[in-house]
Amino acid sequence: MSGNWSLYIIILTVVNILGCFWIIRWTAKKKTAEEAKQGDTTGHTWDGDLQEFNNPLPRWWLWLFYITIVFAGIYLALYPGLGDYAGKWEWDQESQYKQEMAAADKKYGPLYAAYAEKPIEQLAKDKKAMASGQRLFLNYCATCHGSDAGGAIGFPNLSDKDWLYGGSGDQIKTSILDGRVGAMPALGAGLTPERLDAITAYVLKLSGREADAKQVEVGKAVYSELACFACHGQDGKGNATNGFPNLTDNVWLYGGSPGQIKETLQKGRMGNMPAHREFLGEQKAHLLAAYVYSLSN
Ligand code: HEC
Ligand code: HEC
Repeated sequence: MSGNWSLYIIILTVVNILGCFWIIRWTAKKKTAEEAKQGDTTGHTWDGDLQEFNNPLPRWWLWLFYITIVFAGIYLALYPGLGDYAGKWEWDQESQYKQEMAAADKKYGPLYAAYAEKPIEQLAKDKKAMASGQRLFLNYCATCHGSDAGGAIGFPNLSDKDWLYGGSGDQIKTSILDGRVGAMPALGAGLTPERLDAITAYVLKLSGREADAKQVEVGKAVYSELACFACHGQDGKGNATNGFPNLTDNVWLYGGSPGQIKETLQKGRMGNMPAHREFLGEQKAHLLAAYVYSLSN
């Protein structure tokens, strides 16, 4: 924060607090002789006989306002709030976060270290380990993969036996540590609407669904011509080493309706699983891999 901004915020805050104080004093002031003469009502009348009284705030209420002002003063002295001033206690969220992380590492570190010794497939059978694995998953992975790991469009289901990059313990751990990027090229320009319909029909057929036989025929030729097989294989079964999806299993990352398939083909897809090596470290990734493995085994 630049010096001017800081000053601006300090002045604004202080003026606001003083302003509150002034308003309270002003509304609580004794009635003038003139007002006293008018009596207890303001003179406003509604519905014939409904009158507005001009009573001061009850004492206890007034004091609540004073207390909030005193609280604000003490708070702003101790904690950051007045521009650049860090507060007497020099509290900040970052060091609090670091402190809490350090405390958690101290508490759980040895546990993670012990888990990391076990092979993933074996660790997946350890109920207690899986309970902490689930907590980690809910914290770090559920935003994308869902709290039940069931995934969503573009975010793979991790609880079934269908894998883009392989479902062994080590493959899962590699997905977590190093991340994964799927790259399905966009074919938009290279496809006339007829050819798009045809290749879509062929993809539907590959996955075991109904499609117009004539279009499938044409689509099959397009599949060769555009070298889809280079990634998805001649038989459409894909390749788990590179994350090329199997097109024959009727399990869809981006949806299997004709419209969704067309969108995939025209615009391409680029799923991105972020790498977690730096962020989580080896040991937590190990535990998470075991948790993910346990979901489908
Ligand atoms: C360079 C390799 C490559 C080529 C060539 C390629 N694909 Fe793909 N395709 C991929 C990858 C990788 C994905 C997964 C993208 C992701 O994970 O985000 C994918 C995804 C798809 C999907 C979505 C699958 C799902 O589960 O939702 C379909 C359908 C598909 N490709 C069809 C085709 C067709 C048809 C062709 C040829 C016209 C083709 N692809 C050419 C690599 C390729
Ligand atoms: C920002 C969203 C995001 C977060 C957070 C995320 N993932 Fe992913 N993950 C993805 C996407 C997208 C893919 C698919 C990548 C692709 O299309 O190639 C994926 C793929 C995977 C795969 C490979 C699946 C397969 O079929 O081979 C695994 C395993 C995985 N994630 C586990 C995790 C775990 C465990 C966490 C928590 C540490 C996590 N992910 C956090 C988005 C995310």
